[in-house]
Amino acid sequence: MADVSVQSDRRSGGIMINDDWPGYSLDLFSYPAHYSGDLDSVIIPHGVIMDRTERLARNIMDDLGDHDIVVLCVLKGGYQFCADLVDKIKALSCSCDHTIPMRVHFIRLRSYLNDQSTEDLHILGAEDLSFLAEKNVLIVEAIVGTGKTMETLLKHVETFRPKMIKVAGLLVKRVSHNSACLPDYVGFEIPNYFVVGYALDYNEYFRDLNHICVISESGKLKYKI
Ligand code: HPA
Ligand code: MG
Repeated sequence: MADVSVQSDRRSGGIMINDDWPGYSLDLFSYPAHYSGDLDSVIIPHGVIMDRTERLARNIMDDLGDHDIVVLCVLKGGYQFCADLVDKIKALSCSCDHTIPMRVHFIRLRSYLNDQSTEDLHILGAEDLSFLAEKNVLIVEAIVGTGKTMETLLKHVETFRPKMIKVAGLLVKRVSHNSACLPDYVGFEIPNYFVVGYALDYNEYFRDLNHICVISESGKLKYKI
């Protein structure tokens, strides 16, 4: 029998986390004691992130498995997702004896101060991407909000004339002014909260938290610049 779940997942917006879902109580999980009082809830436990990432890796393999890939990891927030996604793709390709040559390149974007997006987007490490010409590029982003950052980055990458560009985003926020620019592979669709953990930061804090959590108001005040 056909694996129905495989087909129904294709091109979905990811696992939907509803606006009225309060998340898991922090008491149900372990997390660094230095963040006690700084978080409201766990919205995606680490194990669920890993399981979903494994499935995204399988979808990517199904689509791109016959090509060499250049992975473009968007730092800093994307480092953990990218590392885990590349690991899962490697594990899958070894288990089916069909290895994909992958190169991983890092670029850095910065547009957030406190929990607000600033107008000026800085792209670092992307000045010369001429090696992307005629390559299959997989951009790996931790989070997509309005999609404006992604749009700017895509336009920049397109100028280097790759053969194909796909985007994997672990989280997509439901914001009212979402642009049409959404990732090809989405892990989770989440409410418009400021989230931290799994390498996502608030002024560089919380990258050392495994779960994706909602920051509390007192957490925002404590680490505000
Ligand atoms: N958390 C951390 N970084 C971010 C977020 C977020 O919710 N949105 C955009 N960058
Ligand atoms: Mg950040």
